[in-house]
Amino acid sequence: MDLLTNKQYCLITYGCQMNSSDSERYAGQLEELGYTMTEDAELADVILMNTCCVRETAEDKVLGKIGEFKHLKARNNDLIIAVTGCMAQEWQERLFKRAPHLDLVIGTHNIHKLIDLIKEREEKRGHALATDMDGNVFYDIPTRRFQKFFAWVPIMNGCNKFCTYCIVPYVRGREVSRPLEEIVEEVRNLADEGYKEITLLGQNVNSYGLDFKDGTDFSALLYAVEEIDGIERVRYMTSHPKDMTFAMVDAIAQCSKVVTHLHLPVQSGSTELLKKMNRGYSAEHYLELIEYVREKIPDVALTTDLIVGFPGETEDMFQDTLKLLKKVRYDMAYTFIYSPRTGTPAATMGNQVPQEVKSDRLRRLMAVQNEISLACNKEMEGRDYEVIVEGPTKNDENHWFGRTSGNKMIIWENDGALAVGDTVPVHVDKGQTWVLKGHTLKQEAHIG
Ligand code: SAH
Ligand code: SF4
Ligand code: F3S
Repeated sequence: MDLLTNKQYCLITYGCQMNSSDSERYAGQLEELGYTMTEDAELADVILMNTCCVRETAEDKVLGKIGEFKHLKARNNDLIIAVTGCMAQEWQERLFKRAPHLDLVIGTHNIHKLIDLIKEREEKRGHALATDMDGNVFYDIPTRRFQKFFAWVPIMNGCNKFCTYCIVPYVRGREVSRPLEEIVEEVRNLADEGYKEITLLGQNVNSYGLDFKDGTDFSALLYAVEEIDGIERVRYMTSHPKDMTFAMVDAIAQCSKVVTHLHLPVQSGSTELLKKMNRGYSAEHYLELIEYVREKIPDVALTTDLIVGFPGETEDMFQDTLKLLKKVRYDMAYTFIYSPRTGTPAATMGNQVPQEVKSDRLRRLMAVQNEISLACNKEMEGRDYEVIVEGPTKNDENHWFGRTSGNKMIIWENDGALAVGDTVPVHVDKGQTWVLKGHTLKQEAHIG
């Protein structure tokens, strides 16, 4: 390729796995147009920020980044800057007012329009907005997968739950499932290309297929994907305690490829607060569900999401959350400070919790959870686990890592005997709060 005419794009992704998956379809379209990827925004002809607005901190990060790119545009007027994803959907034309140096604002139902919009911008400059929400999200468009053995597979878009704190239903729209056959076909193709692990993605995977009204549900999808040769592991995210049925737990337990990791966001341990959050379950029901999961999937690793400082949260309610944490003993928890989102019901509820109380609760919550995480990981010491090798760790070429079925990261010193994508047993020597240290048994055999 002639280097002088080589057009480059820089892609920056924020937010959840859904956004990571969407980014692969943005990258695919740019590569279809002849662009190659660069990590360096200074070298890029197109900068695309795929954004999140779930909390104010997420938005602030994006606004900061948009500001940083102003000088690049001033230096090179040919540069195309695009903002896509949930924050683009929320802000729409307000983003151009705030940052006139942007060229494109593309919402969550318009991913497939990037090719045409870039082509237009290559001809002539000017703002373009594509944020109509018609419920159609296209998946069958050029996709550049970022990993070789692990693949995201979106199974639905949107959310119908309207938890009172959450902006996602407003920026992703109503739930629309992808046809089961289309998903199975994609997973088959991935298997043929050598992919070993897939993650089925949706805001609430447990309500997958219900919109077809023909009996299709998440269990049916799991059974169908289970049959596909070459795929070793099936992950899924995110589950919702209201829609996750006992029958679904049975299906997960029966499908040998479906992982022993369940991410089941509880948000709070107080039934009263769960009601105000519109979560649709009680703390008691949640605990029953967990008990059933542990009975059916004995080795299960459990993770969750928790919010502190939701409007009206009292110290007693917060104590209920701590109690639930100690009862369930999660392997890991993502903990968030409640962030008011304009347009959501909770933003205007009375009894907003002061910032210093929120921060203090977060600190206490994390302290309790870290202790539990460490204890869970210590229990893994001395046991062997199968991992799929992901490669060197970020900071050290000689240390490689892989994940267990339970999604635990194990790090070992690499002697060159393993390749990325190998499935190998590892022995855990030391459990820490966030990671485990071990050695691979293949290496042991190799050395011996
Ligand atoms: N669909 C998933 C995840 C959605 S967003 C689910 O229902 O679990 C991921 C997490 O962000 C949520 O689980 C919640 O814990 C957190 N979150 C969402 N809105 C928030 C807000 N306004 N403030 C703080 N945390 C929030
Ligand atoms: Fe947001 Fe609730 Fe939907 Fe999850 S289930 S995306 S928290 S509204
Ligand atoms: Fe953020 Fe949108 Fe995901 S708001 S969490 S990127 S669905």
